[in-house]
Amino acid sequence: MNSSITIVPIRIDQSFSPGDDLSAIVTDHLAQVEWPDGSQGIDDGDIVVITSKVVAKAEGRIAQATSRDDAIQDETIRVVATKRTPRGLTTISQTAHGLVLAAAGVDASNTDQGTVVLLPEDPDASAARLREDIERTFNVGIGVVITDTMGRPWRLGVTDVAIGASGVQVLDDFTGRQDEYGNTLEMTVVAIADEIAAAVELASGKLARAPLAVVRGLSQHLTEKPATARDVVRPLEEDLFWLGAAEAMKEGGQRAVSQRRTIRHFTDDHVDAEPLERAIADAVLAPAPHHSEPFRFIVLRGDDPHHANRRTQLLDAMRNAWIADLSSIDGKPSDEINRRVARGNLLRTAPVVIIPIVDLDSGAHTYPDDRRNSAERDLFMVAGGAAVENLMIRLAAEGLGSAWISSTMFAPEVVRDHFDLGQRAIPLGAVAIGHPSAPAQGRPPRSASSYLIEP
Ligand SMILES: Cc1cc2nc3c(=O)[nH]c(=O)nc-3n(C[C@H](O)[C@H](O)[C@H](O)COP(=O)(O)O)c2cc1C
Repeated sequence: MNSSITIVPIRIDQSFSPGDDLSAIVTDHLAQVEWPDGSQGIDDGDIVVITSKVVAKAEGRIAQATSRDDAIQDETIRVVATKRTPRGLTTISQTAHGLVLAAAGVDASNTDQGTVVLLPEDPDASAARLREDIERTFNVGIGVVITDTMGRPWRLGVTDVAIGASGVQVLDDFTGRQDEYGNTLEMTVVAIADEIAAAVELASGKLARAPLAVVRGLSQHLTEKPATARDVVRPLEEDLFWLGAAEAMKEGGQRAVSQRRTIRHFTDDHVDAEPLERAIADAVLAPAPHHSEPFRFIVLRGDDPHHANRRTQLLDAMRNAWIADLSSIDGKPSDEINRRVARGNLLRTAPVVIIPIVDLDSGAHTYPDDRRNSAERDLFMVAGGAAVENLMIRLAAEGLGSAWISSTMFAPEVVRDHFDLGQRAIPLGAVAIGHPSAPAQGRPPRSASSYLIEP
């Protein structure tokens, strides 16, 4: 098989304006195209490639440059990334076509000063119209590709890609085919139309006023099946890079707090030690009085027999203390006590339980009077609350669910005895942790105004 291809760029010595009969201009030039072998015109199997710039101009997609920013905004469906450079703000955005490119494809080059050119409204439809007119005029079967120039993430330099196509197999899926070594290819899909666009750009050059070209030797890539440049757009849900890195980080930061919800149902999946350690490392960054770091944590893993044992013993001891409170202080009848303490206890079954502790011996001041000692204790308690919130926010960011359960706060003596803690160590409840068995429920955003007290 002859695998060589021939590309003939075609100069068009006129500038395009709204209302020009694009098909007539193109077919006139195609009739005269000269091939290296001396033949003329176009033939079955040829692929006609044209820049989006001339298609857009003929279709009247021109705006005044004074409204360039407005034009970019109008053409933008979704901002993917922005970058401030000495020349201004670069916006990478997605257009209605699904294309992701700088300035939504709004272009100030090769157009009258004071104007900008937008992308064609529907380049696939433009390609289909052009193909129909060319095929009818010359009585041939051909393909059409409409190109535009784009930068690429991770790569310097621009290349041309197909933004409109008709009659051309835009993607060639090699999946399931075997290579010369007998390996079955699994994920190879070649972007044929983009490769054609890039090859033509190479042959045409940027400045030679050759917005049109014919490619010969790729008839195997012509197809009657519906195939459009739109098919090359990767669906958003499959896109690993749907947001710029800076934008993704900003969004992650903004959502960190609202992402945390109390999760009370966990799977049996193993919880790795590292995310727990990272969450604790974040927890201790909470603000605390007097530059102190009074936060301590006891980690009890359900999958460690010693830990599991210690956890059960603690929860049993806490239950006994609770029963004592219910009977001797509250005077509840035994059947009600039995009912209340028999309720399922998340702390017994969660894959991991962390008991956060604030230790007043690590930095709290002491005063001769109770009033100030009590205020000092409050300071450390609220700092402890901030630490637990930090812990839970980071757990959520690590994909782990957590529920803050108050129980140890009602039985601090039991906890101190159980873990041999000092008298000024205050347990701050317990946090049940595991992989969520279902995604957290969303909730309506809050408005600050409902929480403000007028000064
Ligand atoms: C100090 C404290 C103690 C809590 N104790 C319990 C508890 O004993 N049992 C429980 O199911 N949830 C407990 N919660 C969780 C709250 O019910 C939960 O945070 C609240 O319903 C808001 O839901 P969210 O965490 O999803 O925003 C406690 C929360 C805090 C801050």
